[in-house]
Amino acid sequence: MFWRQVTTTKKTMLLTAGRLSKVLQLTLAVIKPDAVAHPVMLEALHKRILDNNFVIVRCKDLVWRRQDSERFYAEHSGRFFYQRLVEFMSSGPMRAYILAREDAIQHWRNLMGPTKVFRARYTSPASIRGQFGLTDTRNTTHGSDSVESAQREIIFFFPDFSEQEWMEKEEPAFRSGQIHYDHQKQIHTLSAQS
Ligand code: RTP
Ligand code: MG
Repeated sequence: MFWRQVTTTKKTMLLTAGRLSKVLQLTLAVIKPDAVAHPVMLEALHKRILDNNFVIVRCKDLVWRRQDSERFYAEHSGRFFYQRLVEFMSSGPMRAYILAREDAIQHWRNLMGPTKVFRARYTSPASIRGQFGLTDTRNTTHGSDSVESAQREIIFFFPDFSEQEWMEKEEPAFRSGQIHYDHQKQIHTLSAQS
């Protein structure tokens, strides 16, 4: 596929097969310990990501120490749910993703649904939290809430990942669809260049 670069005042866009497509946005998504504990739920959430046209740029399973949890959620220290939250997030394995898509941040948050599970069940029963959430703390997933937090959170989980380098070297090929899904690694990779 060929493409031509078009520069606007705000964004660089690519003209792909006759239509302008927006630069891919990155977000950090986490499947929390309550969902990772159930393999069927974990599989369903991974499938939900793929079905919603996210590109999986990175994926890793990890366990937090309590201090990682405290550092990540420092903005909530002092809130009534803070201790419960940091204990929960360091209670078992979780899975972190760097996801790419047009409007990835908002799209992933829409898919997750409201923070509070009982509200999610009532107002957005088809959302991830509406479907799988257990309590307001054990609410299945996390998603960055702004461009700034996505950048900070991606570095927190994937310190070796350079967003700038990815945007320069890989984003155009990912956007034009020169990718395939690697079932073994469970991520998307660039197709071999001919
Ligand atoms: P997240 O950061 O996990 O994507 O969730 P969020 O933006 O929708 O919600 P936020 O206000 O940032 O809260 C972070 C996490 O704290 C736990 N929480 N528990 N018991 C409670 O009322 C309560 N409120 C928040 C949840 O795990 C929430 O996702
Ligand atoms: Mg939040």
